[in-house]
Amino acid sequence: MSLKAYNRNMSIQEMRKTYSMSGLSKSEIDLDPVIQFQHWFEQAQQPDLPDWVEVNAMTLSTADLKGNVTSRIVLLKGIEDGRLCFYTNYHSQKGRQIQDNPQVSLCFLWAHLQRQVRIEGTVTKSERSKSADYFRTRPRESQLGAHVSQQSSIVDSSQTLQNRFVELQTEYEQAEIPCPEHWGGYEVQPNRYEFWQGRPGRLHDRICYQLVEDQWQISRLAP
Ligand SMILES: Cc1cc2nc3c(=O)[nH]c(=O)nc-3n(C[C@H](O)[C@H](O)[C@H](O)COP(=O)(O)O)c2cc1C
Repeated sequence: MSLKAYNRNMSIQEMRKTYSMSGLSKSEIDLDPVIQFQHWFEQAQQPDLPDWVEVNAMTLSTADLKGNVTSRIVLLKGIEDGRLCFYTNYHSQKGRQIQDNPQVSLCFLWAHLQRQVRIEGTVTKSERSKSADYFRTRPRESQLGAHVSQQSSIVDSSQTLQNRFVELQTEYEQAEIPCPEHWGGYEVQPNRYEFWQGRPGRLHDRICYQLVEDQWQISRLAP
């Protein structure tokens, strides 16, 4: 099916929206970007949101030392002392790139509020005990999935994964499923935040917080 058919005969070129829901000024924001982020995160969780919207979904970009960049969605699972936490497989492509280069970026799109938040910073692994504690709260299927999947390695078929899943299900039938060594949390310590609010005429509001000598410096950026 062509892209045109999906979009009621509108070409890709013609697709655009006008953003006019709200604005953002330096006088109204919090001086602490973590608090500002929390305000926006709470506002993003509107009660009438469709079920499929995941406000904690964020694009994580990582790069290796040759400058190859890759991006993917992961879920934000907490903010602790200003560090943003997500969980994954340490042997995945992101895990390998982070091992080479701990500089990462995160990007949230809250399209229903015409907002974007960009965050840059340095990532470290969570404490082992924290990862294990979180792993224990996950549904058993997800726990088994973490054991079965060597994330981002080539598999011959989905049946192979299913078979291994069933084997492990039997193996751990009555037992607690341990947190795999290769699975756990990462925590991003931000040094830059940018809050973007769409505005009419593409004159969007962009407020940036940059960490300079342990102080957040706030600037407005041109759209
Ligand atoms: C909505 C959504 C949420 C996801 N959440 C996670 C997550 O929290 N952790 C994770 O490892 N992968 C998550 N994924 C899968 C990743 O996008 C990606 O496919 C996987 O982590 C492998 O990426 P990598 O090879 O770049 O490491 C999610 C995907 C989507 C679409």
